[in-house]
Amino acid sequence: MVGLDAFFLLFAWLLLWTPSANANTEKIIFSVPDSPNSALESVIDGSKFNVIGLLSPAESPEKLLLRTELPREFPSESAPHGIDSWVHLKGLKPGARYEVRICWAATTPSDFWLSVHSPHDHKYNSDVYLKISAIADYYTTNATLMDRPEPVLVDIILDEFLLGVLPRSLLNVGLFIVVVAGVAWYAGSKVVQWLDVITTKGLKDKVA
Ligand SMILES: *[C@@H]1O[C@H](CO)[C@@H](O)[C@H](O)[C@H]1NC(C)=O
Repeated sequence: MVGLDAFFLLFAWLLLWTPSANANTEKIIFSVPDSPNSALESVIDGSKFNVIGLLSPAESPEKLLLRTELPREFPSESAPHGIDSWVHLKGLKPGARYEVRICWAATTPSDFWLSVHSPHDHKYNSDVYLKISAIADYYTTNATLMDRPEPVLVDIILDEFLLGVLPRSLLNVGLFIVVVAGVAWYAGSKVVQWLDVITTKGLKDKVA
């Protein structure tokens, strides 16, 4: 019985991780400036400042996920990181640590560079802008697709770190791991008891 439970748990565990096998992730961790002196480097270039959306924990309901299509191109000498898109990160807590993740399907091979910047004017503001640079990363015999890569569908996720260490969205996974570890420990001790019983019995049989 114990063996079956353990097998089931392992199976559930594998199922849980299957989605990550088909998706790629890039992430950046940053602290929100809490004074003009801690402002992040501002390299916002007006001509290429293409804001595609907003993420904000301060909205109601809070907006922590942005599903969108990002333009991309093959890297060139003038644009080695492809095409830049910007996301406004609004209403963040000054001084708090956040993580932004970008996820895309493995069927649309791409590379992304993420960076976080303060707005141009140097008045203090806890709003920042996320820059996403996207290139296509594939080879195909289809000339159309080699000439002009199609936009890539992505999920952009904003996550606050609790106590500065644990991303809020991972809390459930954390609890799950604790529960699985507990059950595994219990199952393990049962197996040891069981082995004990057999060996003792075996010894007795030998003696008898
Ligand atoms: C190339 O890809 C485009 C876009 O997916 C498609 O419309 C077109 O039919 C493809 N051409 C060939 C020759 O497969």
